Amino acid sequence: MKLLLFIVFTFVILQCQGKPLDHSSNGYQRTMEDIKKEIAGYSEIAKEIINLAVHGKAQNRSYERLGDFVDTIGPRLSGSRNLELAIQYMYKALKEDGLENVHLEPAKIPHWERGEEWAKMVEPRNHSIAILGLGGSIATPPEDITAEVLVVTSFDELRRKSQDAHGKIVVFNQPYTNYKETVKYRTRGAVEAAKLGAKASLIKSITQFSINSPHTGAQSYEPGVPKIPTACISVEDAELMARMSSRGTRIVVTLRMGAKTYPDADSFNTVAEIIGSKYPEQVVLISGHLDSWDVGQGAMDDGGGVFISWEALSLIKELGLRPKRTLRLVLWTAEEQGGIGAEQYYQQHEANISNVDLVMESDDGTFMPTGLAFTGSAKARNIMKEIMKLLKPINITNVFENGGGRDIENWIENGIPGASLSNDISKYFWFHHSQGDTLTVQDPVEMNLCAAIWTVVSYVVADLEEKLPV
Ligand SMILES: *[C@@H]1O[C@H](CO)[C@@H](O)[C@H](O)[C@H]1NC(C)=O
Ligand SMILES: *[C@@H]1O[C@H](CO)[C@@H](O)[C@H](O)[C@H]1NC(C)=O
Ligand SMILES: *[C@@H]1O[C@H](CO)[C@@H](O)[C@H](O)[C@H]1NC(C)=O
Ligand SMILES: *[C@@H]1O[C@H](CO)[C@@H](O)[C@H](O)[C@H]1NC(C)=O
Ligand SMILES: [Zn+2]
Repeated sequence: MKLLLFIVFTFVILQCQGKPLDHSSNGYQRTMEDIKKEIAGYSEIAKEIINLAVHGKAQNRSYERLGDFVDTIGPRLSGSRNLELAIQYMYKALKEDGLENVHLEPAKIPHWERGEEWAKMVEPRNHSIAILGLGGSIATPPEDITAEVLVVTSFDELRRKSQDAHGKIVVFNQPYTNYKETVKYRTRGAVEAAKLGAKASLIKSITQFSINSPHTGAQSYEPGVPKIPTACISVEDAELMARMSSRGTRIVVTLRMGAKTYPDADSFNTVAEIIGSKYPEQVVLISGHLDSWDVGQGAMDDGGGVFISWEALSLIKELGLRPKRTLRLVLWTAEEQGGIGAEQYYQQHEANISNVDLVMESDDGTFMPTGLAFTGSAKARNIMKEIMKLLKPINITNVFENGGGRDIENWIENGIPGASLSNDISKYFWFHHSQGDTLTVQDPVEMNLCAAIWTVVSYVVADLEEKLPV
């Protein structure tokens, strides 16, 4: 009996060491050498993708498509008619492109409109102040708000001057360090000012460069803290008021904001696929967000991300390729209001999380690409590094840390590998959420390169014998 058990046991061990791979399980048995060889085998396909996207007949296509889209639709605020039209436009375009399983998945999204808004300095002199109300802001009362200004450069300074804030319009003139740090003033400025009894808050736009442009964005009120009207002003006007105030000059500003919040609206995440040949239930998700703020054209944020993601499926289809796993394009709705569409998508699909191989989002610009940002296990990172070597023909092979995006963070936090496109963002915040975000800031040649990287990565991951190890 013991001998029989021994024989059976040994047989099982030998089986496991041999080649009987169960691809559908999470069992991860091949060596890195095997995987390196498998990935190197994609070098011809990678060259074909690059040639078609960068040099061939698909050259400039993602840019041309983006241009038609943003010129036709314009900006696409959550809850707006334009966003509905944008979803219809994309649904039709994806169908006409011959993609599979094109469909819309419902989501409830915020509906806020800025209405008429303006601000003017009335003391010490008349001066018109360019503003953009922040998402979700309340309106000013019918008599407008006219109040003295208190300028601060930080939340600490605001606390030190807490006695002075009551009844004032607080102007935040914080220095720009980086977006992540500085954006706190936009998202929390109203709440911090309201806690001290301020009537409104005006926040220096979150950008390192300005030609008197206000930049909008999300902000949030806090339960138990009075809601006050809040808007961004230009770097120039924030600094003007800071200089006047440091000279001891009294500044008075009149603010009018006609913003309105309506009941949540019906919207959709837009989906299209290339269905996998061997493991159709397993998914590589590639994405960008279709909504934008209500200024400019949303060509950069996030038109670029949407159109290189669509381009990936177009290129793969055009080359007659079909990966083993399903490549799923998702165009998120209401990202700007806090990843609202993506949150609902996650709730609706998390039951299938074990079938998700990789989540990708491009939402940090599609300028000159510098590589891929990736979050995942060390083993998965090594695989991504091998895949990025396939981009040698365009000399963009780096794999950086911290891949992600607002719309894919739920998946990543729950252990799914995540990737985003790294690119030259030195000018990104110049245009971000402003009237300056138009097709003019996009470059067709840079978008070709972005699309090539996005396509090679998504195709190869979707076609490898095994899912990325978690
Ligand atoms: C693509 O755009 C670049 C830059 O504008 C231009 O030089 C090139 O001729 C365009 N290619 C095609 C096929 O239109
Ligand atoms: C400022 O504007 C007000 C209202 O339009 C006007 O009455 C006033 O004369 C202006 N002041 C100056 C100095 O122009
Ligand atoms: C889960 O995956 C299966 C197999 O692909 C599919 O039929 C089902 O609709 C999926 N369910 C969700 C909630 O995504
Ligand atoms: C490739 O990129 C590196 C920097 O990433 C640069 O130093 C090098 O000159 C580039 N080579 C070519 C052929 O463009
Ligand atoms: Zn965005």
